[in-house]
Amino acid sequence: MVNSLPSSVLVVGAGGREHALVRALLASPAKSRVICAPGNAGIANDAPCFPVAADDVAGLVALAKAENVGFVVVGPEVPLALGLADQLLAAGIPVYGPKADGARLEASKIFTKEILLKYRIPTAAAGIFDAEVPALAYLKTHPAPIVIKADGLAAGKGVTVAQTDAEAAAAVQEMFAGKFGASSSKILIEDCLVGEETSILVVVSGRDYVILPTSQDHKRIGDGDTGPNTGGMGTYSPAEVVTPEILRRIENEIVRPSVNAIADEGIDFRGTLFIGIMLTVDGPSVIEYNARFGDPETQVVLPRLASDLLDLLWRAANQKLAGYELKVKSDYALCVVIAAQGYPESYPKGDVITIPSLPDNVAVIHAGTARNATGELVTNGGRVLGVTALAPSLPQAAADAYAACDAIQCPSKYYRRDIGARQLNRR
Ligand code: AMP
Ligand code: GLY
Repeated sequence: MVNSLPSSVLVVGAGGREHALVRALLASPAKSRVICAPGNAGIANDAPCFPVAADDVAGLVALAKAENVGFVVVGPEVPLALGLADQLLAAGIPVYGPKADGARLEASKIFTKEILLKYRIPTAAAGIFDAEVPALAYLKTHPAPIVIKADGLAAGKGVTVAQTDAEAAAAVQEMFAGKFGASSSKILIEDCLVGEETSILVVVSGRDYVILPTSQDHKRIGDGDTGPNTGGMGTYSPAEVVTPEILRRIENEIVRPSVNAIADEGIDFRGTLFIGIMLTVDGPSVIEYNARFGDPETQVVLPRLASDLLDLLWRAANQKLAGYELKVKSDYALCVVIAAQGYPESYPKGDVITIPSLPDNVAVIHAGTARNATGELVTNGGRVLGVTALAPSLPQAAADAYAACDAIQCPSKYYRRDIGARQLNRR
């Protein structure tokens, strides 16, 4: 298979997920050239970066042609929803990442809810609204806790889990007042699911699929799952709350029915289906689909693969996934996100970061980093670094990741102290 792998690969995106993808693709025995657009300061240490924005579809197609790229791996959802895969395929360039019709599974929560209900895949009951008055009336018969969701993309901020009726009504009013622009011109009001969350990443190619190792994200900013939701403050893998028995249920009740439903809807999906799942007392239930790898889930899942990622993604893009057997390391991975103090609200940029030399089992994955005028590494986003350790046990992975976080210097660094605590405390 290695012989037929592409000799040059473009990774699209600028975050930790893309840095992890670049590293894993560079580790392929195929030794393909790996480039990135636009990348960040850390990715630039590993691979040539080109200053084309991740949502500049025409610019990315032109770059892929100019650099003679044989394969494109798309990280974020926005270019997928804008039709980047469609445009690349029209130019004859194979791509990992769904076309716009598949990206709609993430870009419209209503589209997804309708598919979940039509195919009887477990998910919370929901009402769909395009006006404030009926939405507020629905809240009268559906008291808090209740979940309000903007239909469209909102950079991970379009969901309010309202604990009081007043909070629910305020969320509805804000959304119809245009808080998320066109993304909240339609909303979902959904029953609140209770349980532990897990993320299942599935590499999909039509009706064939490969389930990647399990992981668990920590979405809230504060220790003990307090404070506002973020893009994700840390992850670990495997998530042992997903026992082999629960994983079998997830595959039978959610993954296979989802992959088949998507194909039955006429969508030729070749990319990552990231399924957010709540493990409720009644069984696993779908919270959402994303049409891409998760961030920071990817930072713990990819280092645990013993299989060649390039081969896996290339097979998915070329409908050659049938019969594929994934090999996974027995090691545990744990990723602590270093954010800028103040994230997810306002935070400084441009603070100098100093990274000491670290043990080989610790990877510093860059998310929001850049170089300043004098070439120093500086913060350039809310989530700055992802520090991932791979070790034979979860306590060891946590100890190694936290030792590295403590050693990294940056005046505005903030990180949660309890990544992995749920699993560590369960032992
Ligand atoms: P999403 O943007 O869809 O990932 O949702 C963000 C977060 O909101 C999820 O990770 C859950 O923690 C929470 N959430 C979404 N839907 C529900 C629900 N129906 N019940 C409880 N929590 C939810
Ligand atoms: N970590 C959650 C996400 O990537 O959406």
